[in-house]
Amino acid sequence: MKLVKTVAELREEIAAAKTAGKTIGLVPTMGALHEGHASLIKAANMENDFVVVSVFVNPTQFGPNEDLEAYPRTLDADCKLAEAMGADIVFAPSAKEMYPSEDMTWVEVTGNVTKVLCGRSRPIHFRGVTTVVSKLFNLAQPDRAYFGQKDAQQVEVLKRMVKDLFFNLQLRVMPIVREADGLAKSSRNTYLSGSEHQAALVLSRSLKKAQERFAAGERNAAALTEAVREEIAAEPMSNIDYVEIYRLPELQPVNGPLTGSSLLAVAVKFGTTRLIDNVILEEK
Ligand code: PAF
Repeated sequence: MKLVKTVAELREEIAAAKTAGKTIGLVPTMGALHEGHASLIKAANMENDFVVVSVFVNPTQFGPNEDLEAYPRTLDADCKLAEAMGADIVFAPSAKEMYPSEDMTWVEVTGNVTKVLCGRSRPIHFRGVTTVVSKLFNLAQPDRAYFGQKDAQQVEVLKRMVKDLFFNLQLRVMPIVREADGLAKSSRNTYLSGSEHQAALVLSRSLKKAQERFAAGERNAAALTEAVREEIAAEPMSNIDYVEIYRLPELQPVNGPLTGSSLLAVAVKFGTTRLIDNVILEEK
């Protein structure tokens, strides 16, 4: 496996892979790789001939008071894990390499899909994500790109971008990977103290109950969200940002009973760490 830090080197590697007729799988990450990322790299390795994992803590998707500086940076360990999962290239550029000009070209998805949920408390976040992911798509020219369902809103935003900008690739979405105790794997879990980790288990516990109530026939969105909200609020260390349900695809408001496929999503702070989690509610 090769560690590549410049756009020029990456372009050379991609050109060689394309000339050799290889299909390309791209796994965009911000590093601090965990088993969730490992599942994406593994899938990319199974479905493509050549796998690129990008490791880039993207400054443009962090708001002014967010954790850009504190975000864990573990490139050596990331390279080891990426190699073990079958990556051919780790692309770890500097911010200057990805954003060479002071003036910016933005890629921005508009509408409900970027306004609700995390878009409300993180207004510039998705514009940063779509801009950097567009750059990575243009550089790696993947046949398939891999993202985790834990970032459910990001997935919906990227699906819209791929469709609207005619990116010629398949967006592959892999299931949430959880700790044995239910906590969704996240690079930010390393910020949690032991007691905050314990408290955060309320997220997966309450979402699972909502899923069970849905399976038993509950179709009232307010009843489901209120039960989740009450259970999370009863945990003294929690500070709720949102507990909401939207219709899939593209996060449209729910009017009337739940039909088709819906996303029940939560964002909650434990201490200074903001965690997200979700379940999809759909009839079998
Ligand atoms: O999901 C992430 O880790 C990031 O938002 C992504 C897609 C790598 C873009 O920086």
